[in-house]
Amino acid sequence: MLAGIPDSTIQLVVTSPPYNIGKAYERRSPLTGYLEFQRKVIGECVRVLHPRGSICWQVGNFVDKKAAGSIIPLDIVLYPIFSELGLKLRNRVVWHFEHGLHCSKRLSGRYETVLWFTKSDDYHFNVDPIRVPQKYPGKKHFKGPKVGQYSCNPLGKNPGDVWTFPNVKNNHIEKTNHPCQFPLELVERFVLGMSHPDEWVLDPFAGVGTTMAAAVKHGRRGVGSELVPSYNFVARERINAAFSGTLKGRPMNRAVYDPNLAGPSMRSVPWAVSPSKEYPIHQPTQLVLLEPKARYRVRAS
Ligand SMILES: C[S@@+](CC[C@H](N)C(=O)[O-])C[C@H]1O[C@@H](n2cnc3c(N)ncnc32)[C@H](O)[C@@H]1O
Repeated sequence: MLAGIPDSTIQLVVTSPPYNIGKAYERRSPLTGYLEFQRKVIGECVRVLHPRGSICWQVGNFVDKKAAGSIIPLDIVLYPIFSELGLKLRNRVVWHFEHGLHCSKRLSGRYETVLWFTKSDDYHFNVDPIRVPQKYPGKKHFKGPKVGQYSCNPLGKNPGDVWTFPNVKNNHIEKTNHPCQFPLELVERFVLGMSHPDEWVLDPFAGVGTTMAAAVKHGRRGVGSELVPSYNFVARERINAAFSGTLKGRPMNRAVYDPNLAGPSMRSVPWAVSPSKEYPIHQPTQLVLLEPKARYRVRAS
C-alpha cells in the first residue's frame, strides 16, 4: 500500500504499530527482526511525507519474557531509526490512562508515548484548534502596562505534552472488536494541530480505522492499511459514520470520570462491616492483614 503512494503527498502520519507483545493480531519476533520491519515502514512513511508534514508514532513497552519480564520502552529503541532518517523530534507526548493490567512484579503501566517528528524545521503546527480550558480564566495582570487586563489567552491554553484520556476498554463509547484501538480524541488533537482540511492523513497500521475516521470527521482525507479483515470491516463502518456525522466518540476536552461524582454507593468499602456510628462505611478505611490467608479486617482510619 505504501509503495503505491507518491513521494511527499502525506501531511500527517498517525499510527500505533504492533508492539510485538503477542496480541491476537501479531506474531512475536525477536526485537531485532521487529525493528528491521519497523525501519522499512518508517522509511516509506518518511518518503511519502510532505516536507511540512509530521509523523506521530504511538508505542508502549516491549515485555521481554526471556529476560524475566523486563521491559523495553519501544520509543527508546525506535528513536534512532527516525533520527537516522533525518526527522526532528518535536515532542514526546505522554498519554496517561487510569486503567489497565495489574502487574504483580512491577508497577502497573499507566502511560504510553507518542513521538512527534517533523520532516523539516518549516512544519505546520497550529495550537489554536487544540487549546484546552484555562485553569484560571479570570486571572489578570497585576502590574506593568497590561495591569487589569486578562493575562491568559481567551481561546484556552496549550494542552501540554501529558494528555489524560481514558483508554478504550469495555464501557467506552468507542469500543469495537479491536483489543487496543486509539481513543478518537488522541488522534483528533494531532489531526487538528498538524494538518489543514483536505490534506492527507495516513495510518499504515490502521486497526479499526480511528485515524482515518478522525481525519474524515475534520474534513481531511484518510488512507491506511490493515491486515485483519474483521478490523477492516469495522474501519469502513466508522469511516462511513464519520462522513455521515454519526461517528461515536467521546467529546474532546470532556473531563475524565471522577469517582467522587459516582456517589457513596460506588465508593463504599464492600468488605467493611455494615454502617454503624463507630465505623461509618463511607469513612476512609485502613486494611489490617491478620495472618497469611486470613480475612482482612477493616477499621476506620
Ligand atoms: C496497535 S494496532 C492499531 C490500532 C489502531 N490504532 C486503532 O485505533 O484501531 C496495530 C494494528 O496493525 C495491524 N498490522 C500488523 N501488521 C500489519 C501490516 N504489515 N500491515 C497492516 N496492518 C498491520 C494489526 O492487525 C493491528 O490491528
